[in-house]
Amino acid sequence: MNKLPIWIDTDTGIDDALAIMIACKLEQLDIVGASAVAGNTTLENAFRNCADVFNLAGRADVKVYPGAIKPLIGELKTAAGVHGDNGIGGAIIERSKAPIETEKAWDAMYKKTKELNKDLTIIAIGPLTNIATTIIKYPDFVEHVKQLNIMGGAADGGNVSPCAEFNILADPEAAEIVFISGMKVNMFGLDVTHKAYLADEEVLDLYKIDTKAAKLFKDSTSVLLANRKKYYLHGLCQHDSTPIVYMVYPEWFKSEKCGVYVETRGNITRGKTVTDLWSDTKFKERNCEVFLDIDRQKFVKLIKEILSSY
Ligand code: BDR
Ligand code: CA
Repeated sequence: MNKLPIWIDTDTGIDDALAIMIACKLEQLDIVGASAVAGNTTLENAFRNCADVFNLAGRADVKVYPGAIKPLIGELKTAAGVHGDNGIGGAIIERSKAPIETEKAWDAMYKKTKELNKDLTIIAIGPLTNIATTIIKYPDFVEHVKQLNIMGGAADGGNVSPCAEFNILADPEAAEIVFISGMKVNMFGLDVTHKAYLADEEVLDLYKIDTKAAKLFKDSTSVLLANRKKYYLHGLCQHDSTPIVYMVYPEWFKSEKCGVYVETRGNITRGKTVTDLWSDTKFKERNCEVFLDIDRQKFVKLIKEILSSY
């Protein structure tokens, strides 16, 4: 089987952890590297969680590189209120014994991308600081990437402000650089990820699975499940799994090619991924595939199968 090479750039929080465990079990994917970025939690936590989750998933061989400790401009504002102080909802998992990589995320990602000339998909499920830094340092990076699947943004609404999603508002300047870079960008924003949720009874059903992956899912999500009503969500959204699952099951998704630009200045609108899906022909070009829908039933079934398979 010709596997699809992917690189995962993550601020390893709760839903990032499940996304990594899913990626490790999709045999169609070849995870050629990973990098950590500050976002949901500090870089130190994200880096450790990332390596530890790969270790738990039996993939301690995947090298994890450290990236940015803060956004391009301004200070880091984590999401400890959602993801807990350690980034994974207080769950304790075995420490990975893999050697600690010290090469910077942007150098390692660039090298791997060039090596796999136009074949590598980068999956960015945290703020876009590492990706933008790679573009700034190595302008030809964009020519060598096959596509960039991001979890971030929203055509409609937001989750940290009425119009901004966390990963974009965490570093809007980085997001702007990425969206205008010319790279093929697939945006898995809240439009689709709010449909990629696990309802309460589905979460409780997953809690009955007796595997180490299901245990991490349970330990990391228990507090969030108890609190989720204050976020006005149907259930637990698995934002970060969507761009990974898409790689193997594109037929489960619906999207529109749009012009998307990032607002970096507005007092109220900073961090908005501006598009209305239709009249954006007024933008210079339709630079982005905006994902809007997912077959939720199939997505939930896959999560159950994967958590059971560990
Ligand atoms: C995104 O922000 C983080 O809290 C999640 O891990 C996800 O990447 C959702 O807005
Ligand atoms: Ca994330």
